[in-house]
Amino acid sequence: MHNVLIPSEVDSSSLSESAPDTTSAEKIIFFHAEQGKPLATPWQIALTRSKMVNKSALGKGIIVDCACGSGIQLAAHATHLQRAALGIELDSQRALASAVNLQTIAKLMNQQDSQRMNETRVLCGDGRDGRGALETLQNHLKLAQMPEISLLHLDPARPRNSRSHGLDEMAPRLDEIFAGWAPYLSTGKRGPSLLLDLSPRLSHEQRLQVEEMVDLVWPQIERTWVWTSRGRGRVDRLALWLGSISIPNVARRFVRISPNLQDEPLIIDGGEPIQMGEGVPQKSRRPPRKGERVSLLDAALVESGLANVWLDSVTKSETIHWGVVEGRRPQIHHDHSLRLEGNNHLLIQATGKIATLAHMNLTLEDVDALVKVALDHDIQKLTVRVSLDPEIQPKVQGAIDRQLARRHGKRTAFVVQQPGDEMLLLCVLE
Ligand SMILES: C[S@@+](CC[C@H](N)C(=O)[O-])C[C@H]1O[C@@H](n2cnc3c(N)ncnc32)[C@H](O)[C@@H]1O
Repeated sequence: MHNVLIPSEVDSSSLSESAPDTTSAEKIIFFHAEQGKPLATPWQIALTRSKMVNKSALGKGIIVDCACGSGIQLAAHATHLQRAALGIELDSQRALASAVNLQTIAKLMNQQDSQRMNETRVLCGDGRDGRGALETLQNHLKLAQMPEISLLHLDPARPRNSRSHGLDEMAPRLDEIFAGWAPYLSTGKRGPSLLLDLSPRLSHEQRLQVEEMVDLVWPQIERTWVWTSRGRGRVDRLALWLGSISIPNVARRFVRISPNLQDEPLIIDGGEPIQMGEGVPQKSRRPPRKGERVSLLDAALVESGLANVWLDSVTKSETIHWGVVEGRRPQIHHDHSLRLEGNNHLLIQATGKIATLAHMNLTLEDVDALVKVALDHDIQKLTVRVSLDPEIQPKVQGAIDRQLARRHGKRTAFVVQQPGDEMLLLCVLE
C-alpha cells in the first residue's frame, strides 16, 4: 500500500527540522524529518553525481529512488536529467520532506510548472515493492501503461554508530530491491541503469559480495565503482554505477569534490576491476636519503586503488617507493618533484625534499633537539606529520611553533617518520 504525495501540493508546516545545506552555493533550505538530516546526501555531492550521469546513454522512463529519505539525491537527478521522478520512502515524515524538497529544487531551477514536475510523485510505502509502487503511480496519473524506469537509485539506510556492518543490515536490502525492480528497468545503450549508493565502510570482501548479487540478476553487466571524497582523506561515498550509467571501460573512479563550491571536481579514472584485488599498493621501502622527495598522499585516493594511476599522471615514469600504505598518512618516496598542475594538489597532504635525517623520536622532551636541527636548516615553520598520541600532538606542535617563532628561519617544512624507524625526516617544501 503506497500513499501518494504531490510535490506541488504539499505543505511543510508539520515538518520540524529544516537547515540550510552549507555545501550548496545558494545555501538551499532543505526539510528533514526527525533524524533525517544525517542521512541526507549533501547537495554538492548529489549534484556532482547527477552531472556525471551521461543523459544520452539512459533508456526511456522515469527516475526512481526507492529509499529516497529527504529526496535530495532524487531532486538533483530529476532536475539535471530532466526526467519525471518517483521517490519512495517508508517513513511518512521523510516522504513529506522529500516532496517539499523536490518542489524547492524545481522552484530554484524555475521548473515548477514543467511537464516532468507535473508527473513527479513521492510515495509513502515499501520501496521493495516495485510492482505495487508502479501500479499506484499508473492509476494515480491515469497512464495507459505502467511507467518504465530509466534509472534506479538506491541509498539504503545502514546501522549508525558502527564501524562495520553486514550487507543484510542495509534497509532496504540490495537483493530485495533487485528482485522487486528488475522487471521494470528500461534498457539504455549498455543495459539498464542502476546507481547503488553504498557505505564507504564496506570491506573489499563485501564489495565482491555486492558484485555477486548484481551478477545473479544482470550477469556481466558493466560496472564502475566510484569513491567520492570531500577531503581530509575520508571516503564520503562509495557507489556502484551499473549498466548504461557505468563509465565505459572504467573499473574505478575517484572523485575529489572541490573545496570551492563553484569548481569542477577532480576525477581520476582507471585501475583494475575489483575482482583483481583491492588495488592498494604494496609496501616497497628503501632507506630514506637526503635530497629525495617525500609526499603524503590523500588516504581516500589510496583506498580507492587509484593512487598509482594518479601518480603516473603527475610524474615522468618515476619509481615510487611506498613507505606507508595504510592509515591516514600514506607516504611515498621519489626522486623528482610531482607536477601538481590544476587541482592535483588536492590529492596530497604535503610534499617536500628531505633536508636532513634526524636520528631521534618525537616526544615533548625531544622538541628542543628537533628545533635545533630545524634551525640548522633555516626552517621557520615545521608541521608535525608524525602519528602521535592525539593528546600529545598539539602539545608537541605548540612547543615547536613557540620556539621557531622567536627565531629567523626562512623555510617551511614538515616532519615525518616511517613506522618502526627511530628517525625523523625533515622535509622542506619546494
Ligand atoms: C540513507 S537514507 C536516503 C537518503 C537520500 N539519498 C537523500 O538524499 O536524502 C535511506 C532511507 O531509506 C528508508 N528506508 C528503509 N527501508 C525502506 C523501505 N523498505 N522502503 C522505503 N524506504 C526505506 C529509510 O527510512 C531512510 O530514510
